[in-house]
Amino acid sequence: MESTRSRLAQRLAEAGQSHLVQFWDELTPEQQAEMTSDLEAMDFQEINKFFRSAMEVSHSSKQEKMDARMEPVPREVLGSVTRDRDCIKDWEEKGLRCISQSRVAVLLLAGGQGTRLGVSYPKGMYDVGLPSHKTLFQIQAERILRLQQLAEQRHGAKCCIPWYIMTSGRTMESTKKFFSRHSYFGLCKDNVIFFQQGMLPAMDYNGKIILESKNKLAMAPDGNGGLYRALGTQGIVEDMDRRGVKFIHVYCVDNILVKVADPAFVGFCVQKGGDCGAKVVEKTNPTEAVGVVCKVDGRYQVVEYSEITLATAEKRSADGRLMFNAGNVANHFFTLAFLRDIVQTFEPQLQHHVAQKKISYVDTQGRLIKPDKPNGIKMEKFVFDIFQFAKAFVVYEVLREDEFSALKNADSQDGKDTPTTVKHALMSLHHRWVLNAAGHFIDENGTRVPAIPSLKDGTDLPIKCEISPLVSYGGEGLEELVSGREFRPTLVIDKSGAHELVKNGL
Ligand code: UTP
Repeated sequence: MESTRSRLAQRLAEAGQSHLVQFWDELTPEQQAEMTSDLEAMDFQEINKFFRSAMEVSHSSKQEKMDARMEPVPREVLGSVTRDRDCIKDWEEKGLRCISQSRVAVLLLAGGQGTRLGVSYPKGMYDVGLPSHKTLFQIQAERILRLQQLAEQRHGAKCCIPWYIMTSGRTMESTKKFFSRHSYFGLCKDNVIFFQQGMLPAMDYNGKIILESKNKLAMAPDGNGGLYRALGTQGIVEDMDRRGVKFIHVYCVDNILVKVADPAFVGFCVQKGGDCGAKVVEKTNPTEAVGVVCKVDGRYQVVEYSEITLATAEKRSADGRLMFNAGNVANHFFTLAFLRDIVQTFEPQLQHHVAQKKISYVDTQGRLIKPDKPNGIKMEKFVFDIFQFAKAFVVYEVLREDEFSALKNADSQDGKDTPTTVKHALMSLHHRWVLNAAGHFIDENGTRVPAIPSLKDGTDLPIKCEISPLVSYGGEGLEELVSGREFRPTLVIDKSGAHELVKNGL
């Protein structure tokens, strides 16, 4: 025991992290044992190296703007749901065929801490207040179920879309329990595969690891780009290979509109021979805080809004659109071969980014301090950091109102990306699906509500309407349920048909 302790003390001293055991004598034997095992599992030399290079990159990127090195996505690698309408059916068909052959998997990034939303459980378990009270996890699971069914109907073969779910030390147990409690939402348990990303300590600006209590280091997941290390350490690439998976759709847990394994996106990427693809939405406002996909020094990457000048953000092409308008929505396509190359060769070359954060810590007196301005950094890799290694990069542009609405923040008046805004985005999409299937809505007096309802009392509440993903994945199959019919909101369409909810608490 004594020798373990002195070995550890020496390792800490060599790494300049001896302060981590400053409260050692105040800890109970159990706390000491737990802390010893936490500390022994850490590679301090590696952590210090990550810190140095992350700080270096952050420093140099602050000094230099990207503008002169940037080029927009060329038209040849771009597919667009608005500009290539004639091709969509073909792409969809191709994607559905791949799905029917069980060659497509989905991979969910769900290791984040959801600090802005401020709930203590994983974000996927959040109920945004839809009439059905479905959580984000359930909505996604049901879209997978429906898509499997569509592919089976089209090609007459049973198929499966394996669902890989990346969690972190903080979200793993509760996520697994939630799925088990809900019987995997009807999916086959063997096809839902959980794996865990790595964690890194938060550091102060001098590279000292922060203690969140006398016996615990402040640990945080290593960013959604921690995916690539986890794919290797957790044997996920092998698992995909064993299952015959060839194409992977990667997405974030917080997008309520996400089209998991979107056949058109998959089909487009496959048809184009892409090894790496990004789904984007058009950035229309130069000052919108969104990263854009573009080329820098001839290689693809996402350039954050803070890395360019306003003049570049405002540049327009001949067609009047912003020149750098490929807004990144963290929604990607990868071939398994590409992911294997990343895991085996390129992952160590990826640099951590620095996120300045307010990190609670104990001071030298052992008092818990909650800072009101950033006092340290978390180190994170990003999922899009691997674009630079693509041999055939492709971009697929979709409509924001159909496919992207992210849950980031807690509800507040006029808040952006809140439970209310994402709920409205989903209901507004489903409202349009009903109208497109020749259904109608009427108000409390029986008068038809115009397709574009006028704003009453300054409110812009959408028509209350929710369609189960088990009935429709992307608006299909609704005619027989709604065509020529009139509905009084709230309308809910599920496997048992279309119902008006008399009471609604929305
Ligand atoms: P965000 O960067 O928005 O983070 O994640 P977050 O955890 O959801 O929220 P904040 O920033 O703490 O408020 C975008 C996506 O990346 C995943 C998240 O789960 C979300 O799907 N993510 C993020 C990970 O999987 N791992 C991470 O380490 C960070």
